[in-house]
Amino acid sequence: MINIAIDGPAGAGKSTIAKAVAKSLKIIYLDTGAMYRATAYFALQNNIAVNDADAVSKMFENFNMDIVYENGAQQILVNGINTTPYLREHYMSKAASDISALPVVRYKMVDLQREFAKTHDVVLDGRDIGTFVLPDANCKFFMTATPEERANRRYKELLEKGQEVDYDTLLKDIIQRDYNDSHREVAPLKQADDAILLDTTNMTIDEVIEAVKKVVEEKVSKEEKSDDAPGELKSFGTPSSEMPEKTLKRIKTYYKPEKSFRLYRFLRVILRPLQCMLWPTKVINKENAFKIDGGLYLCNHYSTFDSLIPIFTMFKKEAHILAKYELFINPLAGGILHKMGAIPVRRGEADTDAVKAVLKVLKDDKKLLMYPEGTRNKEGSQEMAELKTGAARFAIKTKKPIVPMVYYKPTKTCHKNYLYVGEPFTLEEFYGAKSSEEYHAATEVIREHFDAAREGVNAYVESLHKKKSKKSDKESK
Ligand code: DC
Repeated sequence: MINIAIDGPAGAGKSTIAKAVAKSLKIIYLDTGAMYRATAYFALQNNIAVNDADAVSKMFENFNMDIVYENGAQQILVNGINTTPYLREHYMSKAASDISALPVVRYKMVDLQREFAKTHDVVLDGRDIGTFVLPDANCKFFMTATPEERANRRYKELLEKGQEVDYDTLLKDIIQRDYNDSHREVAPLKQADDAILLDTTNMTIDEVIEAVKKVVEEKVSKEEKSDDAPGELKSFGTPSSEMPEKTLKRIKTYYKPEKSFRLYRFLRVILRPLQCMLWPTKVINKENAFKIDGGLYLCNHYSTFDSLIPIFTMFKKEAHILAKYELFINPLAGGILHKMGAIPVRRGEADTDAVKAVLKVLKDDKKLLMYPEGTRNKEGSQEMAELKTGAARFAIKTKKPIVPMVYYKPTKTCHKNYLYVGEPFTLEEFYGAKSSEEYHAATEVIREHFDAAREGVNAYVESLHKKKSKKSDKESK
């Protein structure tokens, strides 16, 4: 699927450009702002205040949004009623901005947008497409212009439509909306690190369209040639949109680093003997783990339980692991994980809270454990799944070393497990990297180190088997 993200503040010209690019590529254009506008319109029609989270949550109990195209033009139906003719009224802009700040609204819309992007080649314009909705979009643009220029454009547009407006009011509203959109709690308006910035203040529409089309055509044809492009686009995890807001709020507190790890130390003392009994594990080259002060420890795993092996074995005092947020939904499990030092992460989303928490741990020269496959290996094979680029991004950004660890799962239960600790390495040649191509190349380097560690552990286990069979041969003689 082709997904093109165009973000930017109100009136920057996103929709004109997005429409033109979609037309020239013969793909669909999705105006995500209209989705927030339609939600606000429906709320106002039902006398629901657009800033009342509880009332809007309740409204969603009986709310169904359909996006359809009539002669190529997007129509948004809410509960079967076409809201499109009413969405561009001036007062709807403020109402949409207000309602879009509610987390419950964002998660619902983001869910719909992701679903749409999964099944359509689409150009989306909005505020958070590149940073939050589709962090793996093929192309990302951040389009902006001065508030005065944007107010001027809106003024002309409304005049042409025969609506009477005052320029100063428009300018004031634009400045206020910029503030609202970029200061809200969830997914605020922000340029994605890998988005191309386009300041359109002094550009004509045609110039902008040409600039965008040039980048898109280059990128799309490059990715069509590359084998792994579809995999990247399909890498969405479970969205957090199905989670009640209360749970989401509680999980948010877990992003704050824990100060005392006494509970983890206590639990480790109690549970470690049990672990040694159920999963006897020999650590090979343990000294490698202690060659660095802090950094990323990467490991594979096959089940929730065996993910404890590298944790209890390598982390005596505090266990900073990146764990899927679903594990934190239960307050007891969430509380314990937090006390260990675990960081919840919403997989497949641009989870900026998790990123900040990870960067803090690494910058404090602590150890952070990640499972770079993003999930457990359900097939139980030695072959690792495709590695996500997250670990490379963290190692490059913080300039911290990586320790690859391979967990060797025995074929029979109660047989010994092995944890092979590879040599620490850095991604120095990629420091300063920003593009997703560079992150992919760095992830390839990580994979090579994993392959070497896998060979190491296989050779070790094989030599043990040989020794054993020699011994039993001798005994039988
Ligand atoms: O692009 P627009 O003016 O039609 O958007 C209306 C409001 O919707 C805008 O003030 C912010 C919000 N919005 C958003 O929060 N996220 C998006 N992806 C798109 C719009």
